[in-house]
Amino acid sequence: MRATAQFVADRFAHMGFDHVEVSPTNGHPIVYADWLHADGAPTVLVYAHYDVQPVDPLDLWQRPPFEPVIENGRVYARGAADDKSHVHLLLWAARSWLETRGRLPINIKIVMEGEEESGSDSFEPWLIANKDRLDADLVVISDTGFYEGNHPALTVGLRGLVYTQIDVTGSRLDLHSGTFGGNVQNPANALASIIARLKNDDGSIAVPGFYDEVRQLTPRDHEEFTRMLFDEQEFVAQHGLHSLFGAPGFSPPERRGARPTLDVNGIWGGFQGEGSKTIIPAHAHAKVSCRIVADMDPDTTFARLRDYVMSIAPAGVDVTVQRINDGWWVLTPIDHPATQAAAACLEEVFGEAPVYLREGGSIPAGASFSRILDLPVVLLGFTQPDDQAHAPNESMRLDNLEGGLRTIMRYWQRLSELSL
Ligand code: BES
Ligand code: MN
Ligand code: MN
Repeated sequence: MRATAQFVADRFAHMGFDHVEVSPTNGHPIVYADWLHADGAPTVLVYAHYDVQPVDPLDLWQRPPFEPVIENGRVYARGAADDKSHVHLLLWAARSWLETRGRLPINIKIVMEGEEESGSDSFEPWLIANKDRLDADLVVISDTGFYEGNHPALTVGLRGLVYTQIDVTGSRLDLHSGTFGGNVQNPANALASIIARLKNDDGSIAVPGFYDEVRQLTPRDHEEFTRMLFDEQEFVAQHGLHSLFGAPGFSPPERRGARPTLDVNGIWGGFQGEGSKTIIPAHAHAKVSCRIVADMDPDTTFARLRDYVMSIAPAGVDVTVQRINDGWWVLTPIDHPATQAAAACLEEVFGEAPVYLREGGSIPAGASFSRILDLPVVLLGFTQPDDQAHAPNESMRLDNLEGGLRTIMRYWQRLSELSL
């Protein structure tokens, strides 16, 4: 991680950025660099993340995940799309301006973190500690992508996240299921019973009060969502799904962009090997996370989930709910001149006006920028929907990469013409 941060910092230093720093945190460092010689022009905080998700399951990779290979007009590697594509194209855009014109059209403060994929725990404390030098007119986050069918898109919404772990403990050691079966509670059964009661059969979430703060969609919102073409069959085929399933009353893009979720991310305990082993496991566990939307609050969501789990915990075992990490949702203003300027650049480069997307994913830093620095945020990214981010054989289309570079270069120019 440190070598990667240093790599990014060195590149900015080499092309002429000032105050280049691999800034320490309690976790992975944050790369800071600035170029502030565009007198009178806007100042933009530019964010991306240099960390990636784990590579497992490794045996499903067709090539070694950290040796990038170009094939089929794509570069394949862990992080090729999420988010090294943007780390690189932000580097290239700045370098291209500096090498051909000797300057940037705007003032830029680079902030690249290494904990995005694990919840950005150190990010907000770092923002608070560095508030004085982060003064700017705007934040541009490059960590999002295009719409289904690889249509240009500007992301205007992200969901937040509340990530938890449920631990169920019975005995000190695994027990003989013949000697003890029928006389003790089984932690794996108990966990299954808890999980079974978190959701209703129609896909809605059963935690009392869970939806209370969810902002209702206005007719205008519905209209935006219905303008998004969505071919259910194509979506199912493209992503290798069984079929679509979700709570009634909302279209798939609405469910992804404007409705909360509750999902088990992993579940384990007891005997997992081949054949049989007659035990009652000593303990069982599950990772359970919720995507949250406007106007939900991570504290409230966690408290409701924890209280409900405790209230339905079966007798005969100890149950705990840990809070692992969380992040807020983000909604950015579509009408802001900086958003509209980004839309214009996308259209110029890709020949198609972008759709305004409310994404289902999360970028905790997005909300931190608006909450701590009170700055408008533009989410401008170029990955394609079939990038297999977080999965084996992640890739980035080279034409999206080049178009992204051209878009960013134009965007810096266009922002210099705005008074923000
Ligand atoms: N780049 C993604 C966020 C994203 C996903 C944007 C899909 C647009 C569409 C980011 O790197 C990510 O994966 N975030 C995590 C956050 C979590 C670990 C706190 C996520 O959404 O799971
Ligand atoms: Mn990302
Ligand atoms: Mn990611």
